[in-house]
Amino acid sequence: MNRKQFDPLKIIRTFTALKILKTIAALQKYLQQQNKKTIGLVPTMGALHQGHLSLIALAKAQTAIVVCSIFVNPTQFTNALDLEKYPRPIETDIIKLEQAECDVLFMPETTEMYPQKEHWHLDIGEVEHRLEGKFRPGHYQGVMQIVYKLFVAVKPDLAFFGQKDFQQFRVIEKMAELKKLPVKLVMCPIIREADGLAMSSRNIHLTAEERQHALVLSRALNHLKNVPVKEASAQIILKEAVEMIKAEPGVELEYLEIVNADDLSEDLSHPEKGTIALVAAKVGQTRLIDNMILG
Ligand code: PAF
Repeated sequence: MNRKQFDPLKIIRTFTALKILKTIAALQKYLQQQNKKTIGLVPTMGALHQGHLSLIALAKAQTAIVVCSIFVNPTQFTNALDLEKYPRPIETDIIKLEQAECDVLFMPETTEMYPQKEHWHLDIGEVEHRLEGKFRPGHYQGVMQIVYKLFVAVKPDLAFFGQKDFQQFRVIEKMAELKKLPVKLVMCPIIREADGLAMSSRNIHLTAEERQHALVLSRALNHLKNVPVKEASAQIILKEAVEMIKAEPGVELEYLEIVNADDLSEDLSHPEKGTIALVAAKVGQTRLIDNMILG
C-alpha cells in the first residue's frame, strides 16, 4: 500500500459508531430519530483528558444516548490571548470519544452557535461575582449563554459537569432553575494525576518545572482536608495553606477560600450542602483552579 494513502484515523472512523454532527438541525434530527431515549449531555471545550472521559463514562451509565459537545466558546473568555492559545487537538479528541464509545460528537462552528450578534445577561445574584467572578468578570455570563444554547439544542435529560469547575456548576444550576429547564445536573468527581494535580486541558501549557510547582495547589487543599471550619483555629490553618502557596516559586495565588458549598458565600453557619475550599493561581502563564469539598 502507498504509505501516503494510509490514514489510520479514517479507518477508525469507518468502523466506529461515533456520529459527528456540526449543525443544530442535524443534531436535533438525529436525536428525534432515537425514539425518546434518555439523553446525557457532556459539554466540553475539547482537549479531552481522563476527567472528561470519566464524565462520558458516567453519562453512559445513566443515559441511553451520550452527546459530547466540543466548542471553544468565545463569549466566556475574558482574555483574547487565552482564547487563541486554548488547545484544539480535535483529531485525538475524536479518537478518545470513539474509544469511550460516545454516541454523538456535536462540534459546531462559532457561526452556528452565534449566527448573529446577541446580547445575553441573566442575573443569578452573588454566586456569579464571587471567587472566579472577581478575577474573570463576565466569564460566567458567557458560560451560561452557551450552556443555555446547548441545553435548548440537545434537550438533555441529564447533563454532566466536573467538580473541578465547582462554581461553574452552581452558576449553571441557577441558570437552569431560572430558565425552568427540565434538565438534571450531575456533578462528577475531580480526576487527579497520580501526584495530585487536578486534570485540566490547560495542564499541557505547563513546563516540567511549572508542573512541579503546580502541585502546591493540591497540597494546600489537602492541608485543609480536616479543618474544623466553624472553629477559630480554621483561620490559622487556612493562613498556613495560603503561605504554603505564596512560598512556592513561580506560583501567583489569586484566592484560596473556604466557603459555603451552596451559595459560595463566607457564611458557614448553615452549610446544608457542606463547605468547600477553592483555589486559583497562576503558574507561570497558566491559570489553574482546584477545590476540595470539606464536609
Ligand atoms: O467547563 C467547560 O469546559 C466550559 O465552561 C463549558 C461548560 C463546556 C461551557 O463552554
